Amino acid sequence: MSSLPKPSSFSQYWNLRKDIVFLNHGSFGANPKFITEKQKEYIDLLESEPVDFSVRQWYPLYYANKKALAEFIGTSEHNIYMVPNTTIGINHILHNINETKKQWLTTNHGYGACLHAFHKIGERKGNEIIKVNIPFPLHDESQILEVIQDGIGPRTSIAMIDYISSATGIIFPIKKIIELLQSKGIRVIVDAAHAPGMVDFVLDELGADYFVANCHKWICSPKGSAFVYVHPKNQKEFKPVFYSFYNDWDTDHEAHWSNQFIWEGTKDYSAYLCIKDALEYLPSLVSGGWDEIKKRNKSLALEGATLLAEKLEVDLPVPKSMLGNIVTIPLWDDKIPSTNFNYYTEVKNILYDQYKIEVPCFFFPQAPKQYFRISAQLYNSIEQYAYLADSLLKTRDKN
Ligand SMILES: Cc1ncc(COP(=O)(O)O)c(C=O)c1O
Repeated sequence: MSSLPKPSSFSQYWNLRKDIVFLNHGSFGANPKFITEKQKEYIDLLESEPVDFSVRQWYPLYYANKKALAEFIGTSEHNIYMVPNTTIGINHILHNINETKKQWLTTNHGYGACLHAFHKIGERKGNEIIKVNIPFPLHDESQILEVIQDGIGPRTSIAMIDYISSATGIIFPIKKIIELLQSKGIRVIVDAAHAPGMVDFVLDELGADYFVANCHKWICSPKGSAFVYVHPKNQKEFKPVFYSFYNDWDTDHEAHWSNQFIWEGTKDYSAYLCIKDALEYLPSLVSGGWDEIKKRNKSLALEGATLLAEKLEVDLPVPKSMLGNIVTIPLWDDKIPSTNFNYYTEVKNILYDQYKIEVPCFFFPQAPKQYFRISAQLYNSIEQYAYLADSLLKTRDKN
């Protein structure tokens, strides 16, 4: 194995292993060292006086974080509450949809765990699940709108749509999709796991009925920090999935709705408490703040993807205007097709074991059609994608 390519100079602020070329920020994010230290400070505060921290100190910290997050995503702090991750947030929403004998619509680009929840909960409530097939490769956003439009039936009442799809990296024209669906009286759940810190949006302007997203991906707060947004018009009927303390706080105050969800019982809440730190810390690393971070990451991902596509002599499956910090690129078919989610393809194993590259290789829409997905965060460098391209070419030539 030749020597590994260097990450960017920003990598000094992360704790990532130097013996791995880490090209998968998209799956679980990665905290800067500063945020890991901050999280330890909150855990130390908790453990040095568990009662004082949990009973007195915790609330102002929770509210300050929720307020900072609400400002960042463009809504009122009273329209959101924190959850550990998008999977749980989507479950909260689906359990709150009280409908039966309707059609619930989603797409084949949805994230596996959320699609499972959609199927299981939707069917248990007596609804029919319609999964429309959005083509991939894709040349135009109008294809997405057409397929969704064609999937709408007289009984369609709910749609769950990704903002940025996990497997295919497409930035969906979410505002247009919301408008289309709502014009037919359909409520829209947006799975926006990748959106905060990657794309620009103002939640209040999007008009989504429900919106769930992770802070632990592109905002780089600790794993276990995410939020649920519910449009004010849907809040009256939206209740906690599990009840605990404080559900009846401030019932005559605008804070009441979101206060119902704050106490998840005894646990380590430090991930929630670092969201504000991450929102402030990351932009301090560059001169142009969050705008620069988003621009840099997107342009590095596109530069890396273009280089890879050229070397592998393939086309990028999506117009660049519809891509952000994660880009999915075609590979040759896998020899041992499997449908298992955690199955590591042969190429993925070779890249990791022989070339020390962490990058997801997977099937879409199904085995054996194989793709890989690159991510770009501040700590990545273009040399890392060039090394991935060379490693893939060597792997292909040996087989
Ligand atoms: C589009 C999408 N939805 C949901 C999730 C699930 O996120 P979590 O595991 O934090 O619940 C992911 C994770 O990658 C995702 O990409």
